[in-house]
Amino acid sequence: MEKELQVYIDGAYYPKSQAKISVYDHGLLYGDGVFEGIRAYNGVVFKLKEHIDRLYRSAHAIMLKIPLTKEEMTQAVVETLRRNKLKDAYIRLVVTRGVGDLGLDPRKCPKPSVIIITDSISIMSKEAKEKGISAMISWVRRNSVDASTHEIKSLNYLNSVLGKIEATASGADEAICLDKNGVIAEGVGENLFIVKDGKIFTPPSSTGALAGITAQFVIKLARSLGYEVTEFNITPFQLFTADEAFFTGTAAEIVPIREVNKRQIGDGKPGPVTKRLMDAFQKAVADPAEGVPIYQ
Ligand SMILES: Cc1ncc(COP(=O)(O)O)c(C=O)c1O
Repeated sequence: MEKELQVYIDGAYYPKSQAKISVYDHGLLYGDGVFEGIRAYNGVVFKLKEHIDRLYRSAHAIMLKIPLTKEEMTQAVVETLRRNKLKDAYIRLVVTRGVGDLGLDPRKCPKPSVIIITDSISIMSKEAKEKGISAMISWVRRNSVDASTHEIKSLNYLNSVLGKIEATASGADEAICLDKNGVIAEGVGENLFIVKDGKIFTPPSSTGALAGITAQFVIKLARSLGYEVTEFNITPFQLFTADEAFFTGTAAEIVPIREVNKRQIGDGKPGPVTKRLMDAFQKAVADPAEGVPIYQ
């Protein structure tokens, strides 16, 4: 029998089928907690420092004190991967408010829980990468910066789940959320970019979009290849009439968008800028300089 993956919970390791937390955990009862999705490529945890920094920033914003130092957290992630003998993996790092009573007051939760899952993820097929995906602008607005904004990577993902449900119901592969002013914010778990006349644009985080670590890396890559990249309030019209569009994210990596609300983007195929960035991205991700090696 194949050995089960081991999951880290609060300093101990449990086989996947035994990895459980309390039904009184406020992460479950109220979505009160924060998380990160991280990837390892060929033995290197891509941008682990950046993900851990963001986790602690999210926790700070919800006044959640993570019971490990950043260094201890880094070691726990690496050790979980080692125990599972993984070189290529998707890592889900979750910190919940912990066990409390049935009221939502976080002061009743004395001990946050830390969970590290190391597994795999597949949200975009090979075909999606090669041909591009269809997207639809959903009626679900991105939570605004004065609500449960996605600037905080919290366990409150119903906003994104609703967007996803809407996309699926209308036969599209992915949803795009607008902000409350009607400009593009992001996908449900991805940042969005457009290319127009050789220039690259992406929405600012003032739309409530998460400051994506993949997006930041892609911006750096694009600039190093000589492209101009600007944060810009993109309207639906500007998206419909872009030459190219693509999503970025840890799980999605870079995926071209071939149509939005049945409007073909460009010639309906992944464009040259998108393809160049996808290529550069795949070459760069396993570079030890871009992350933390698991085995040394
Ligand atoms: C809402 C949202 N936007 C964007 C992203 C992409 O961010 P990253 O590239 O850091 O994975 C994610 C994924 O974490 C997300 O959940």
